[in-house]
Amino acid sequence: MNAPLPAWLDRVFCEDALSGMARLPDGAIDLIVADPPYGLGKDYGNDSDKMADKHGVDVYLDWMAQWIDVALPKLAPTGSLYICLTWRYAPEIFVMLKQRMTMINEIIWDRRVPSMGGSTRSYTSVHDTIGLFAKQKGYYFDVDAVRIPYDAETKKARSRSIFVGAKWLEIGYNPKDLWSVSRLHREHPEREDHPTQKPLEIIERMVKASCPPGGVVLDPFMGSGTTAVAALRNSRHFVGFELNPDYCAQIEQRLVRETPVLASPLLDDIVK
Ligand SMILES: C[S@@+](CC[C@H](N)C(=O)[O-])C[C@H]1O[C@@H](n2cnc3c(N)ncnc32)[C@H](O)[C@@H]1O
Repeated sequence: MNAPLPAWLDRVFCEDALSGMARLPDGAIDLIVADPPYGLGKDYGNDSDKMADKHGVDVYLDWMAQWIDVALPKLAPTGSLYICLTWRYAPEIFVMLKQRMTMINEIIWDRRVPSMGGSTRSYTSVHDTIGLFAKQKGYYFDVDAVRIPYDAETKKARSRSIFVGAKWLEIGYNPKDLWSVSRLHREHPEREDHPTQKPLEIIERMVKASCPPGGVVLDPFMGSGTTAVAALRNSRHFVGFELNPDYCAQIEQRLVRETPVLASPLLDDIVK
C-alpha cells in the first residue's frame, strides 16, 4: 500500500507565504516557482505590490530576502528556483540570490507586445526577466522533456542524405533563454481575472524541465493558480500560498475546470 500523502500536499493555503512556508518540512520541495510582487504598484486587492512606493525600496528588498530565506531550506538538494521579475529590481534580487544559490540562467520572456504606442522617453519595455537558480551543481534538469519540435519546413530543408536519421532532427531542439510567448489578452480562453497571470506554456516548461515526475512544486505567490494547474496537468504535486481570498476562490474554480479528474478529490482540502 502507498504511504499517505502529507496533509499539506496539493493544497492552496490562503495565507501569508512567509508564515505558511515555515510549516513545510525542510528538503521536501523539488522546485520553487516564485512570481512575487514586483514593486511596481500593481493592484492585487492588497498592498503587496506597493511596498517599494509606500515604504521604500530597501523595505521591499528586505522583504524579498525574508521570504527567500524561509523558502530555500524547503528545497531538496537537487532542487531549483525560478523567479519572475522585471528589469526594475531584477539586478538587486539576482545579486541577493547569487549569494545563496548557483545562477543557471537569466531567461527573457518576450511578451510579444505589438508595436504601437509605448514610452517616448525610454525604450518600451516588452519583456520580463526570469532567473533560474539551483541549490547545487547536481540539480535536476530534463531537457528532453521540453525540447521543441522542428517545423516541417526545417525538417524538409534538412532532408539531404547527411541529415537522414539525424537524432537531433527527430527529438527537437532545446529551448533557448529567450522565450517568446504572448501575454494573455482579455479575450484569451486561458485568461483569469488576475492582472499578472502567467501563461501556462511558460510555467509548464519550468515544471517539466525542473521537477521530476511525481515531485513537488512550491509556489509562494499563487495569484490565479497557474502553477497548480501546470503541476497537476503534468503529474506533479504542488503546494501554494495566496493572500487574496478572492484569488484563492478563483484557483479552486480553475482547478475544477482545467484539471477536473485530478483536482476533484483534492477540493475539500483546499483551505480558505
Ligand atoms: C505576480 S502575482 C502571481 C501571479 C501568478 N503567477 C499567476 O500566474 O496568476 C503575485 C501574487 O502574490 C500575492 N501575494 C502578495 N504577497 C503575498 C504574501 N505575502 N503571501 C502570499 N501571497 C502574496 C498577490 O496577492 C498576487 O496575487
